[in-house]
This record gives sequence, C-alpha cells and structure tokens, in this order.
Amino acid sequence: MKSCKVAVFFIPFFCLITAFSPQDNFLINCGSDRDAIVDNRHFLGDSNSLHTSQGKSILKENPNPSSNLSFLYSSARVFNDASSRYVFNINKIGTHFLRLHFSPFTAQNCDLRKAIFSVSANGILLFSNFGVNTASVLREFILMVDNSELEIEFTPTYESSFAFVNAIEVFSAPDDFIIGDGAKSVGPRGIQEFSQNMTLQTLETVHRINVGGLKLTPFNDTLWRSWIRDEDFLVLKYAAKIGRTSHVPKYQKGGATREIAPDNVYMTAQQMNRENVTTDFIFNITWNFPVGIRDSSHFVRLHFCDIVSLSPGQLYFNVYLNGYTAYKDLDLSSLTFRELATPYYIDFVVYSGSSGVVQVSVDPSDLSSTMRKNAILNGVEIMKMVNYVASQTGSKKRNVWVIVSSVLGSFVLLSVLMILAALLFFVCRKKQLKPKRSESVGWTPLGQYGSSSHGTLSDGTSPGPNGYLGQRIPFAEIQLATNNFDKSLIVGSGGFGMVYKGILGDKRKVAIKRGVPGSRQGLPEFQTEITVLSKIRHHHLVSLVGYCEEQSEMILVYEYMEKGPLKRHLYGPGISPLSWKKRLEICIGAARGLHYLHTGFAQGIIHRDIKSTNILLDENCVAKVADFGLSRTGPCLNETHVSTGVKGSFGYLDPEYFRRQQLTDKSDVYSFGVVLFEVLCARPAIDPLLSREQVNLAEWSMQWQKDGQLEQIVDPHIRGQIKLSCLKKFGETAEKCLADYGIDRPTMGDVLWNLEYAFQLQESETLGELPAISNASSPEVPLPEGLPNTHNEAYNGDGASDISTSKVFSQLMTNEGR
Ligand SMILES: *[C@@H]1O[C@H](CO)[C@@H](O)[C@H](O)[C@H]1NC(C)=O
Ligand SMILES: *[C@@H]1O[C@H](CO)[C@@H](O)[C@H](O)[C@H]1NC(C)=O
Ligand SMILES: *[C@@H]1O[C@H](CO)[C@@H](O)[C@H](O)[C@H]1NC(C)=O
Ligand SMILES: *[C@@H]1O[C@H](CO)[C@@H](O)[C@H](O)[C@H]1NC(C)=O
Ligand SMILES: *[C@@H]1O[C@H](CO)[C@@H](O)[C@H](O)[C@H]1NC(C)=O
Repeated sequence: MKSCKVAVFFIPFFCLITAFSPQDNFLINCGSDRDAIVDNRHFLGDSNSLHTSQGKSILKENPNPSSNLSFLYSSARVFNDASSRYVFNINKIGTHFLRLHFSPFTAQNCDLRKAIFSVSANGILLFSNFGVNTASVLREFILMVDNSELEIEFTPTYESSFAFVNAIEVFSAPDDFIIGDGAKSVGPRGIQEFSQNMTLQTLETVHRINVGGLKLTPFNDTLWRSWIRDEDFLVLKYAAKIGRTSHVPKYQKGGATREIAPDNVYMTAQQMNRENVTTDFIFNITWNFPVGIRDSSHFVRLHFCDIVSLSPGQLYFNVYLNGYTAYKDLDLSSLTFRELATPYYIDFVVYSGSSGVVQVSVDPSDLSSTMRKNAILNGVEIMKMVNYVASQTGSKKRNVWVIVSSVLGSFVLLSVLMILAALLFFVCRKKQLKPKRSESVGWTPLGQYGSSSHGTLSDGTSPGPNGYLGQRIPFAEIQLATNNFDKSLIVGSGGFGMVYKGILGDKRKVAIKRGVPGSRQGLPEFQTEITVLSKIRHHHLVSLVGYCEEQSEMILVYEYMEKGPLKRHLYGPGISPLSWKKRLEICIGAARGLHYLHTGFAQGIIHRDIKSTNILLDENCVAKVADFGLSRTGPCLNETHVSTGVKGSFGYLDPEYFRRQQLTDKSDVYSFGVVLFEVLCARPAIDPLLSREQVNLAEWSMQWQKDGQLEQIVDPHIRGQIKLSCLKKFGETAEKCLADYGIDRPTMGDVLWNLEYAFQLQESETLGELPAISNASSPEVPLPEGLPNTHNEAYNGDGASDISTSKVFSQLMTNEGR
C-alpha cells in the first residue's frame, strides 16, 4: 500500500514548518454572545450566529476566570426539543474533525448534569443516552462530509430530559488524513485489506497516546489534539524502556506528516528493555487499551519512527493486535529509503472481541540479529468505528421454511394472542438515505455502504452501528419466520407497527415487531432501543433476540412470552385465576426486573409505562417486564397526557409526573403500586363502568387500605389463600408506592424487599397467623435467599453503556486542558 506510493514519490521530502490552516474552520462558543480565545483559536459566541436558532443560552453564574478554557466552558446552549441542530455550511467536501465539548454546571435552575441526550451528524447517530456528571468531556469524531452542510442534531433521550453543549469545533482534516484503501484488517483470518472505504467511516477517538513521551496539549499539536502518556497501559512496565531523540524527525512524502502526528510523538518511543532481553529470553512489549465496548471494531493507527537504531536495516520487529499478527518483520528502513528517524504510520482495523480491550504488542523479529533484537512504538490512536457494519458471509443456511410451514397449523390459536396488542410499542419508520432537515434523524444510513447491510451474520454477535451486542438477523430469515409477514401471524399491533409471532431457523419462538413507514416515532428511538435493549440481559426483562435493518426495514425481534400479559391472567376471559402465591411471585419478579432497570445502569432507565399489560409471563409464569424504554419518547403518552382524559385513560400515571412533567424512577414506582392493587383485586386500573368512587383503582383501593379494610376488596378467588400478615405487608407496600410525592415513595429495591418479606410471611407457618406487624418499617428478619442487594444488583453488562461518561473517555476528560 503505502510503500507503492513511496515508490512514486521517490525523492525524500522534508516538510516546511507551516501551521495547518483548515479550509472549513468553525469554532463555536455555545450559548454565549462573547468570543473566547483558547490556544490562540477564536471561538465565536453563537448567540447571534446563523448556525443555530434553537435552544436557549445558559451562563454560569460565577465563572472561574482562571483560564481561557474555563471561560469557554462557562456558557452552554440547552435544547429541550427533539431535532435541535447546528448547521454548518461546508466549503470543502471531505474528512472533517468534529469536537463536542461538554462541561456541565448548574445555573438558572438548570443542572446540566441531568441532561441525557443523543447527538447525530448528518443523520449518523454519534452517540446516545449520553450524560456528563463529572468533569468536562470532549468527544471527537472524524467523519466524511460529502454534503454542502453539516448538521449536528441534539435529541433529548426522554421527553423530560434535555441536551446541552458548551463548545463545538468543526474543521477540515488535512488531505489524505484518512486514506480510503490504506487499512489492514487484523484477526483470526490473518491480515487482509480492509474491505470498505475507510474515508466513509465515522470514527470516534478513544485513545491517543504519545508512547514513551509526555502529555501533549492542543497548544502543541498541529491539529489541536491531546496526546497522553502510555505508562498506564503497559502490561509489564519493565519490558519497555523509553527512547528519545532531540532531532526533529525527517518527514518523507508517502510517510507521515506533521499533521498525522506532531514532532513530539515521533521523537519519543518505547523500546525493548535490553537488560531483560537475552538470547533465550525474548518477550513482547504489550499495551492494553480498554475500549469499553465489547464486540466492536476499532480503527487503530500506529506511529513509528526509528530513533533507536544506529544505522538503517538493524531493526526488524513484529506487531500484534489482540494477539493476532498485524505486521510481520516490519523493517521501517525499507519503507523510508534507508533513512532513520523518518515518521511512518500504519492503519489497522481490529475487532475487540469480548475482552473490551485493544491490545498492542511488539516483539523483535527472528530476522534481526541476536545482538540487535529490538522493537519500538512511538504512538497509538484508537478510534471506535461508529457506524461500521461488518460485512460477513457464510452464515448458516437454514431451512426455516419447513419449520414454519410445519407449525403453521398450530397458529389457529393465534387469534387468542391478539391480546398481545399492547406488547411493546414499536418504533419504526423507513429509513431515509438522505435525511431531510425537517425530520433528520439519527439513524445510520447503513444502506449507503453498499453490501454492508446485506448478507450479515445471523449466527453471531456482529457489532452494530453503535457497537452493541444485538444480533443482526437477515431480512430473509424474518420473512421466512413470519411466512412473509402473514397476516394470520399477527399477534398484536402497536401504534408503530405490527407484532408477528415467528419461529426462527433455530426454532426459537419470537415476537417480531415491524415498523411501519411513516410511523411517527423517530428512527433514533429505534436505534436507542437496540442499543439499550441489547445491553440488557435480565431474567425478569423481556430480552431482545435481534434486529434487522436491511432494505429500509426496521425490525425488532424479542423473545416470545408464551402466556402473554399478566392482565389477561388476572381478569381476562376464560382463564383460570392465578393463586395468591403465584401472584406474589409474579410481583416479585417484575419488581426485580424493574429494580434492575432503575439501578443496573449508570443513570438508570425509567420504564415510564408500567402496567399489567407490560408485564408478560413465560410458559412457567415467570414475569418479565416488557416495553422498557420504548415509550420514553412515545408520542402516545405525550399527547394523551398533555391533552385530554389522562387519568381516565391511564390510571397508572404518576400524579406528580402529571403535575410537574418531571419524570423520575419514582413514577414507575407509582405505576407499580397500581399494578400491585390490580393483582390483589383483579380489576382494571380504570373501569369506567363502575360507580364514580370506584372507577380509579388507585383511589379506591387506597381508601380501603387507609381504613384498614383492604381485605374487603381482595379478589374473591384468592381471599381464602392470603394470610393476614402477608396482606397487611402487601397493602402497606402498595400504599407507599402510591404516595403523592415521589420523594415519599420507596425505591424499587425497597419495594422488592418488602414483597419478598410479604412472601415470607405468606410461606411461614408461624408468623402468618400472628396479628400483622403494625408498621411498615423493614422488619428484622434475615434477607430471603436470592434477594439482591437492594442498591446494586449485579450488573454484568459490558459496562460500555453510553449512558454515562465511560472510563474510556476519561482519557479525554478535561479539568485543565483538552
Ligand atoms: C486568552 O484570552 C485573551 C483574551 O480573550 C487573549 O488575548 C489571549 O490570547 C488568550 N490566550 C490564549 C492562549 O489563547
Ligand atoms: C473512498 O471514498 C472517497 C469519498 O467518496 C473517494 O474519493 C475515494 O476515491 C474512495 N476510495 C476508494 C479506495 O474507494
Ligand atoms: C506544550 O505546550 C506547553 C504550553 O502549553 C509547554 O509548556 C510544553 O513545554 C509543550 N510541550 C512540548 C512537549 O512541547
Ligand atoms: C527485567 O529488568 C528489571 C530491571 O530493569 C528487573 O527488575 C526485572 O526483574 C527483570 N525481569 C526479568 C524477567 O528478568
Ligand atoms: C508476542 O505476542 C504474540 C501475540 O500474543 C505472540 O504470538 C508472540 O509469540 C509473543 N512473542 C514473544 C516473544 O513472546
């Protein structure tokens, strides 16, 4: 690759030291009417600019005047509405840098740490569910702008949340900064040319390391980047020794340029610590770079400059990525016309596998003479491939058709399953290759990349556009599984599409939700669902089996819940009533799922639509919460409750949410309290046919509970089964959930604890017949087995959620500089 280019430009070429001046160069001080000058760069206040007319400006009340950067960070623009955007008119089509600065503060009753939002650029989702609750965070992207405009769109994740940004940089990258066909893909199948055009990939910087050198700030970098030291990533510190030179590197055409990396990066390196290298003891220098997200692909740029050899042709070494050979017998001098100290870089693509780490190793080649065994590395950049879709072939051929037709007979029963209608609102809409400004959405236009969206794996966990773990399912397989969306297989329809029962090639029963074109819910939500749902694996949450995004389709595939919604088993027609013990178990299961949703992630996920139709039962009556997240920004909820008959139609809705429009996890607790009474009384949350005081279950049952007469309204089917002490505990728990103010309601963890206790009271021979405990405080009994730690149920996800500032980005977190 590059060596060929070198051959064309044979003459060594030494760069003049001239600063790079980008053709497009937008530096924005968001939310301010004043300019800020940071590192001699002029950030224009955006209050009067043409780039945005949306959002509102927030100014820090007591800005810390200590540095120009903190001045830049003392204002922000805050967006409450979906589709708020900045627009930049691009002069030079090509690769651009985009940097977004986030430095939260509290001012004007607005705590920026509470923001949760997603950002997309020209329709490509850059990140979602993002919030900053610590220091400042800089997120840097390198992306192709092949349009005369670059639109940066901010979308609050929840209706009640908001987005913010303190500063934006958009500037052209130097020509050939990213070369379309230069990268090598490294993995179990050896070294291959990376099959896609690298220039078209959107990259996000994860690590930028000055190996063997000092931290470099934007002030001394040619493209205003930050580089950090490598020591903390070295696996064996004693394996490496720093090499340095005081001579300015000799840049050659065809090799690196000063913009690829500044002099300082090439003037230092780590090399083998020779004291430890002997003829029979050779080892690697290895760095482990955590990348947070598992099962995703990264672009890795390695920088080399032989500043350790005395004469050319001495240094031969091997390079490994994640244990796979990336470059064997690398001889830098052969690539740089036998010049030493000449910068060179090589691009790779590597799949991080399940380790969540990109590992870089170098070791001396067998070709090097015994006396001169050495290996070096000068710099590393690791970038997440934001919208990369692996194109892999050779998926298993499955004879789904046979399976489907053989089970078709049993689908006569399907009409019964219509009740699944409420199962999971579906967010789906035809993707648009070129999103219009008026409805631009953060959906990755996967189809743009040719074959990439076709022929993808159905039997692996190939990384999706967000690096998520969900399984991609080919459209063809979904067609087979649903007999090409046979109407007779429809088991429900949400506001956003149809739900089909289907059987995948591996005989798994699934619920398949297919979005309708033009559905009002946006595409970012769809992708958020995949990102969020695919990270969630919990026994009491309905899990996502996979998704399909081919051919303008957006399809979510969930595990199939044989027994359908809890509601149907409480007061549905023709179904035998569940026993009290079973009901308790179901409540406990659902509470567990919800508790996990609230606490298993950095910022928690609020379900927002807890009701008995969203608690589904599998064939063993194990409860699983469904539809989480799907309705977070659902227009249904929004419209219904903004306009008419909220209480009438809902009955589960937290009155405080209704009053203050502020959603918290306590809103879920309220709704769950309604479900508890529903389970106990076996009647709907709202029953308009009843007398006025009975219509609303929450009000009605609370009256009985407060009067100490709860047993009067217990479902007659189970009245004889409930022990008084258990009923009392259960009633108290539900009552607390329904407290008027969120602050007075228990957490889901407390609710779970209390339900478990109620269950124990029910089970216990002796306790049960005693008069019930008179207060609701946690009784002093040992915790039932298997009860999760209330506030920290094990979360064994990949820790990679975008939901909060992940460790990865701590490299880019800034207190004093970028
Ligand atoms: C800091 O800001 C002042 C005033 O805006 C400006 O004169 C100065 O050049 C800035 N310093 C740097 C390093 O950018
Ligand atoms: C990659 O895409 C860019 C921009 O569309 C194009 O200019 C370049 O020729 C492509 N390179 C390859 C190798 O296809
Ligand atoms: C980088 O710039 C700072 C000033 O911000 C300077 O003090 C430092 O010496 C420079 N570092 C290098 C390695 O050039
Ligand atoms: C490598 O060298 C360091 C000192 O430079 C020494 O402490 C360490 O024990 C050596 N390791 C081996 C395996 O020889
Ligand atoms: C260095 O690491 C690679 C990849 O893990 C391995 O194949 C190689 O044998 C190692 N070399 C030495 C000298 O240990």
